[in-house]
Amino acid sequence: MVSYYTSFMLFFFFNVSKFTGVKTHCDGRQDGAQCYGALGGTVDIQLMDSTSEISRYQLLKNSLKILYAINNKVIFNTIAHRSHFSPSNGTFRINNLSITDRGKYTLQTFDSDGRSSGEWTLQLFFQGKCCVNK
Ligand SMILES: *[C@@H]1O[C@H](CO)[C@@H](O)[C@H](O)[C@H]1NC(C)=O
Ligand SMILES: *[C@@H]1O[C@H](CO)[C@@H](O)[C@H](O)[C@H]1NC(C)=O
Repeated sequence: MVSYYTSFMLFFFFNVSKFTGVKTHCDGRQDGAQCYGALGGTVDIQLMDSTSEISRYQLLKNSLKILYAINNKVIFNTIAHRSHFSPSNGTFRINNLSITDRGKYTLQTFDSDGRSSGEWTLQLFFQGKCCVNK
């Protein structure tokens, strides 16, 4: 009974760690960066060094606005239930990645007069048999 329980727990733990434990990190500060994620995993995307000098910025996913911040206050984040943006280090963390997260992300920054002050993009790819080169 004990060994059955133990092996069940090991099996459970192994599967949980296999599907939720994969963390990847990506430097998205360079235009055209390629980022990799794992299905069900977590990706930390560094979008910028620090946001303290930037009055407004927004992150688009395939031209759909997903994150918008003014003076380092996040006004909205359409995937807030499984992501977190940290203005202090400019890192956007997305948890529980799914295949629909794949695609092109564009970061746009604006000065205090609302003029565009920068724009760069990155691509999020998935590792594994299912997703290579699609
Ligand atoms: C960025 O800051 C957040 C919150 O302080 C922290 O959890 C995260 O680990 C930091 N990420 C990096 C890459 O420094
Ligand atoms: C992760 O996302 C899938 C759908 O993509 C969902 O079915 C599942 O409940 C989510 N898991 C967590 C822990 O949020």
